Amino acid sequence: MFEFQDQVVIVTGSGSPKGIGRTIARTFAKQGATVIIADMNEEGIKDTVAVIEGEGGKAMGITVNVTSPESVQQMVDTVMEKYGRIDVLVNNAGISQKVTVEDMKLEDMRRIFEVNMFGLFLCTQACMKPMRAAKYGRIVNLSSVSGKRGGGVFGGAHYSASKAAVLAFSKNLSREISAEGITINSVCPGLINTEIWKSLPKEDADKVIDGIPMGRPGETQEVANAIVFLASKEASYITGEEIDINGGSHMD
Ligand SMILES: NC(=O)c1ccc[n+]([C@@H]2O[C@H](COP(=O)([O-])OP(=O)(O)OC[C@H]3O[C@@H](n4cnc5c(N)ncnc54)[C@H](O)[C@@H]3O)[C@@H](O)[C@H]2O)c1
Repeated sequence: MFEFQDQVVIVTGSGSPKGIGRTIARTFAKQGATVIIADMNEEGIKDTVAVIEGEGGKAMGITVNVTSPESVQQMVDTVMEKYGRIDVLVNNAGISQKVTVEDMKLEDMRRIFEVNMFGLFLCTQACMKPMRAAKYGRIVNLSSVSGKRGGGVFGGAHYSASKAAVLAFSKNLSREISAEGITINSVCPGLINTEIWKSLPKEDADKVIDGIPMGRPGETQEVANAIVFLASKEASYITGEEIDINGGSHMD
């Protein structure tokens, strides 16, 4: 599809066995990239690395907590020491919670923003330095349809708000850094066939499907395909953009 030979790609949250991040990492590896499997889940990291190596790809696992500035800087330093470059950062690590605003605690709000927005900020800021020095970089952020239309699938208002914040952050940053050869874009998946989808009671799942013109959840591969495109050299004039991947459930 696209050429990533010799490129180094960090995918946060890529340790989740059934998650979107693992498929993103596998897809980059299939295009020739060396992929950094960055997650808190050590077992998941080992497993993703083994899957990629089993498919003939190149991967290195790094344990990171994206909410910790020290941990994030250590990840970037480790990658730079070993490979001397970071071409692509995919900010995929994210958490959700199903709760009404009435029942939401301030701590819930803080926890969601801590990972989904502050963690994304820390990883982006730390990777920008080597990208700036190389005058090349691609940053792709996982937002969500919830960030655009305000929920409707899974997760509370804090989740939607954090994913909306990601979009505004990405656009603002693209104004700062795009002249330096670094693009920053977001994807907004709708309901994807992951653990979240499988956890929905049939009644809720049927309701969600009714609202999707394509009549099915998306596949992790369909998200990964759009991300690989945005991260490619070919997407050189696209920045501050958002791509909907939602089967038509939200169109704008
Ligand atoms: N699944 C969906 O339907 C869907 C839809 C829209 C957007 N998204 C977004 O896509 C991304 C991936 O979703 P998923 O369903 O694959 O999630 P997932 O729960 O399967 O995977 C998330 C991964 O992030 C990691 N993580 C969480 N906190 C972390 C931290 N502090 N530091 C490092 N790693 C951390 C977890 O260990 C896990 O491996 C998320 O940002 C999510 O909000 C998902």
